[in-house]
Formats: sequence, C-alpha cells, structure tokens
Amino acid sequence: MDTSLPATGFGEPPAPGSFPESPLCRAFRQKLMLGLFLPIQAGGWTASRLKRTTDWSFDYNAALALKAEALGFDLLFGLAQWLPKGGYNEVQNGEALDSFMAIAALAPITTGILLISTVHVLYGPWHPVHFAKFGATLDHISGGRWGVNVVTGHRAVEHEMFGWSRIDHDRRYELADEFLSVVKQLWQADENFSYVGERWRMRDAFITPKPRYGRPILVNATGSEAGIGFAARHSDIVFVSSPTGTAFETAITALPAHIARVKRAAEAADRSVRTLINPMVICRPTDAEAEDYADAIVAASEPTGFTAGKFDSDAHAWRGRREHDSARERGLGGGNLQIVGSPERVAENLARLQDAGIDGVQLSFYDFQPDLAYFGEAVLPLLVAAGLRE
Ligand SMILES: Cc1cc2nc3c(=O)[nH]c(=O)nc-3n(C[C@H](O)[C@H](O)[C@H](O)COP(=O)(O)O)c2cc1C
Repeated sequence: MDTSLPATGFGEPPAPGSFPESPLCRAFRQKLMLGLFLPIQAGGWTASRLKRTTDWSFDYNAALALKAEALGFDLLFGLAQWLPKGGYNEVQNGEALDSFMAIAALAPITTGILLISTVHVLYGPWHPVHFAKFGATLDHISGGRWGVNVVTGHRAVEHEMFGWSRIDHDRRYELADEFLSVVKQLWQADENFSYVGERWRMRDAFITPKPRYGRPILVNATGSEAGIGFAARHSDIVFVSSPTGTAFETAITALPAHIARVKRAAEAADRSVRTLINPMVICRPTDAEAEDYADAIVAASEPTGFTAGKFDSDAHAWRGRREHDSARERGLGGGNLQIVGSPERVAENLARLQDAGIDGVQLSFYDFQPDLAYFGEAVLPLLVAAGLRE
C-alpha cells in the first residue's frame, strides 16, 4: 500500500472549547465544574458491604444521570475495565457495563450534560476509521456533548485478555498518539485520507458526518511524564490525581505544583487544558456524623479493594496512593481524594481545590442515590453562595 499523507496532512480540527456555543464551553464557564463518576461497575469505588443502593445496572445509572443533570452538573463519566472472572473481590466482583455503550445510551435521555465514555484505544484493536465514525455519530446524537477518556490500559491482565503481553508504559502513549492523530485527521479531512503508519493504515478513508464543534471532547487521566505530554497535545480535560495519596490535607499541599506542571506542558504545546480531580465525598449534617459513616464503611470493607494491588498495574498516577495511604483511606476507597465532613466542610474543601488550581471535580459517593441527593440539597447551595457555581 502506498504511503500517503502524514498524520497531520489536514491540520488539527479546532477544539470544541474554541466554539463559544459548544456544550464544552458552557461547562468551562463554571468556576468549578461538577461531574459525576457513575458507578457502572459493581461496588463503585469501595469494597464495603455496608448496606447501600449503589448498583451497576443501566436503570440505576440512568436515574443518577437524570438527577445529576437536574442538579445542574456539567458532566457524567464512566470507567472501562476488563477484569478476569471474580474481579477484585466479592463486592467489586467485576460485573460492569461497557463504558462506551452505556454512556452513549445516556445521550437521548439527557439534554445538556456532557457525556464522557472511557475507551481503551489499543485493545481490540480498534481501527481509527471505526473510532472516528462512531465518535462522529455520537457527537451528532448528543448535540456535541459526547467525549472520550482515552486510556491505554495499565493492568497486565487486560492486555493478556486481548492476546498479548502488556505494552511498555511510554510506548502505549506513543501508540495512542498515533491512533488519535489519525482519528483527528479523519474528523477534520474534507478529502479522502490515506495513511500508513507504524500500527494503522488506511486508503481513501472518509468520515461523515463531521463533528459539530471540530471534534468530540478529548479527555485523559495521567500523572506520568509521557501521559502529561499526551494530554498536552490532545486533551481538553485532564484527570489529575494527588501525587501524595488520597488524604485531603496532604493532597492539597502537593496539588498546586502538580497542576501547574500539567498546565505548563499544554502551554508549551500552544494549547490549554482544564484539570479535573475525582474526590469521594462522604457528607452528613455534622463532621462527627460523616466520620461515623466513614468508619462504618471502612469497618465493613474487604481487604482487597480497587487499590490493594490484586492486579499488576504500572500506572504512575496512583503511586502516591500506594506509598502514602493509611488502612482507613484504603478501606474507604473511592476516588483520588477523600472529603469527609459536614456540608460546610465539603464545600470549603471543594473551594480549596479550586484555589489549588483544579477546574472541576468529578464526584463519587458510597451510596450514590441518597448521597447525590443530599449533596444537591446541602452542599450545592453553598457552592453557589461561594461563587463557584452559577
Ligand atoms: C479519574 C480517572 C479515571 C480513570 N479511568 C480509567 C478507566 O476507566 N480505565 C482504565 O483502564 N484506566 C483508567 N484510569 C487510569 C488511567 O488510564 C491511567 O492508567 C492512570 O491514570 C495512570 O496513568 P499514568 O501512568 O500516565 O500516570 C483512570 C484514572 C483516573 C485518574
């Protein structure tokens, strides 16, 4: 096959953030974006048996999506995992909806909220032509609200499931870079596009419809040099994690320098990125009640949760967590930060994250339905009063 255009032949598609009327720009106007980390996998982020409603089913997650949208949240997000039978433990047992499909299925039942699916672009393998077509289709169905969290797969078992040994960490980002550069060309190209690269090739490929606002929203999650470089070149939003683990008071001191590093990398590539972090919020009317709730969750936790290293992972972003987290923090699990307290404390800590340079938070809860409703009732008005939300 002839080698034709290099992957940059048609130039970069404009970013959706450069269209003032795009749904992404609407979200960017909030001082602190609010996202919900949907529990499309069994057990959410905590391996506890303490009674709760949290459920991976589509109906449960669709109800959460509608509630978050009614509360004015800016984005919904689902993770993607490919775990062997049994998952992490009896609670986080691996049962999970596919992120790409489940999040896409929320498009026709929601109206304004951004929808971010996670896709392992190196598994399969996905072909860039498929991905560009599917992405453009979802972009149109959702009215420019759909985006993708591009992941390369940090667990060895997942790569093995697809028939090879885990690809080296930095090499994965090189391959993802090739993949996404070609996909962007397909979204941008107004002529047929041919390409022969290291891993993918195509002749006279053409994609319609073209995405409404240049391209779908691009997201990635990283803490490594290679991943930050990838984010700087491609992403609109970067999920950062705390370099010092999930304890709030230490994280908040380490985050400003870390966020500044991510933003500088984007500036060096003549771009800008917004940063999001994913706290687990445990909120009750008083600090003491929230601590008691957290204690009860931890007391009923399995020892081998998400973060206990059952599966070999080479993720850099969570190294701080392995080094710094206490048994209690591991038992509580959840996102890359934990916020436990009264509505006032939760709102204050969210404001401190914004002061530290965070542009948005993607929340997870232990018992999603009641905890999200309580957040909407008790914390959201405080965020509005503090000028963090319109
Ligand atoms: C908020 C957040 C969500 C993530 N979602 C997924 C996911 O759905 N699937 C996955 O395989 N990895 C997921 N990751 C892991 C990242 O893809 C990546 O492996 C990790 O951040 C380490 O990247 P690094 O080694 O470049 O630091 C997520 C990470 C974060 C912080």
